[in-house]
Amino acid sequence: ALERTFSIIKPDAVRRNLIGKIIAKFEEAGLRPIALKKIHMTRAQAEGFYAVHKERPFFGELVEQMIASPVVVQVLEGEGAILKNREVMGATNPENAAAGTIRKEFALSIGENSVHGSDAPETAAEEIKFFFNEDEIVG
Ligand code: CMP
Repeated sequence: ALERTFSIIKPDAVRRNLIGKIIAKFEEAGLRPIALKKIHMTRAQAEGFYAVHKERPFFGELVEQMIASPVVVQVLEGEGAILKNREVMGATNPENAAAGTIRKEFALSIGENSVHGSDAPETAAEEIKFFFNEDEIVG
């Protein structure tokens, strides 16, 4: 089915001028950006977005990395977009990511892993709403 998922091009990738190369990977896989913007996340946004991880030992470092410099947030649309995006990103830890995936090619470490993507339909809907109003989404 045609789905929407949420994506972040993280600070490590934006700083290294990889926005275009990463969006090319999405488009080549049939994932169309139907909303996108560059933002500098506030601490409150980063803590709220990643609230599910707040008890994890890496939470503090994760928040610091996400607010260190700007990111690109996107809504991606396509057939089976949620799973497809996860395939294109590759495993969370770049050491485990398959050849040709974004994280294999570009990620620096598990924390600076270049992209975030929604993991399920419910989180995709929540994450899209967290950063976009309906009138910013142009399908
Ligand atoms: P992301 O998909 O953005 O969701 C949470 C992020 O926490 C994850 O990608 C990683 O960048 C980061 N992170 C840092 N350390 C870990 C870890 N040990 N396990 C999982 N995620 C981690």
